[in-house]
Amino acid sequence: MWDSTGKRYLDGLGGIVTVSVGHCHPHILAAMNEQNKTLQHSTTIYLNPNIGAFAEKLAAKMPGDLKVCYFVNSGSEANDLALLMARLATGNYDVIALRNAYHGGNAAGMGVTAHSTWKFNTPHSFGVHHALAPYPYRGTWGYDDPEAGRKYADDVKQVIDYTTPGKVAAFIAESIQGVGGFVVFPDGYLKHAYEHVRAAGGVCIADEVQTGFGRTGTHYWGFETQGVVPDIVTMAKGIGNGAPLAAVVTTPKIAAVMAQKVHFNTFGGNPVVSAIGKAVLEVIDQEKTQANCLELGNYILAGLDKLKAKHRIIGDVRGKGLLLGIEFVKDRATKEPNKEGCAQAVENARELGLLLGKGGLWGQTIRFAPPMNITKGDADFLLAVLDEAIGAV
Ligand SMILES: Cc1ncc(COP(=O)(O)O)c(C=O)c1O
Repeated sequence: MWDSTGKRYLDGLGGIVTVSVGHCHPHILAAMNEQNKTLQHSTTIYLNPNIGAFAEKLAAKMPGDLKVCYFVNSGSEANDLALLMARLATGNYDVIALRNAYHGGNAAGMGVTAHSTWKFNTPHSFGVHHALAPYPYRGTWGYDDPEAGRKYADDVKQVIDYTTPGKVAAFIAESIQGVGGFVVFPDGYLKHAYEHVRAAGGVCIADEVQTGFGRTGTHYWGFETQGVVPDIVTMAKGIGNGAPLAAVVTTPKIAAVMAQKVHFNTFGGNPVVSAIGKAVLEVIDQEKTQANCLELGNYILAGLDKLKAKHRIIGDVRGKGLLLGIEFVKDRATKEPNKEGCAQAVENARELGLLLGKGGLWGQTIRFAPPMNITKGDADFLLAVLDEAIGAV
């Protein structure tokens, strides 16, 4: 990227995990321009082939019975629709979400979000209950506890038993918490949590807005890293490489509830964004970006471990693939969050030509989630800049 003065940057955040395959990718521009020249908008009342072609390609990427796609414009809308479907499909109302989660800025998204930073003082969380964040660095059960996943998931059961009628509509979780600072759940967490939720009549929603499309490296979807298959999956951001596009994918059985009334979204699945969405999936396949995320993610994480050994201000480094976090502390023993240190490191990096994001409740965690097709040279640049930027704090 270049700024208005012509200064060059490596985009290490990709417009908040959105520019999945790079700015102005020629294959995507070609698909978009071609469609713009032909027909920009009709409405889903009239059939346009793009939406079907895109939906088929997307559904082919999903496991199990997750075969029905709904298209909307943003992640917040996708989560709103997912919660509607879950409530209709189960006949239950209560929803379990996680502390430290971010799911959107509309009423439904803000309701399931659990960060005071993003919650306005208005009514928005009816029926929502937040279980413990499975946050090994800060939570009760740490990286050294092999049973941590099961123990954090037990809190989901406690929340169901103590705070709901014992029946729930849904459990919603990001597969790795994004805005919360790229918090990776301990192994087994989602598997156990899903068991508790399904036993209480609920469906399981995976918010893949940041973790989907191969970014974790080992798998195409973040939930697969936890060995689970959700009932509803929401996605946005990287699905459109910058276009306003989002989706909800679910099973035919759950989707059937939507036939009770008319559900309509003017721009969802518009011919242009559908052409873009399909082109993004093609680039991900053609350029093998998932493999790149795995290789470079592991390489960078090894480099971050070395930086942690060198800079005492770093409390934790974590992540999967090209979704990597560096959490700053004032003191490694107390783990007091170091908001100022993190902000200074981000600012220093910007001056050195690297754009990064911040996350975590206190803004104490650097987030690195660049386009998935960055190069080894970019990775080396990132590590060199981080070393200098953090060293100067
Ligand atoms: C995990 C997650 N879910 C949902 C959303 C909301 O998406 P949008 O901003 O497109 O409404 C975000 C946005 O940051 C997100 O990170």
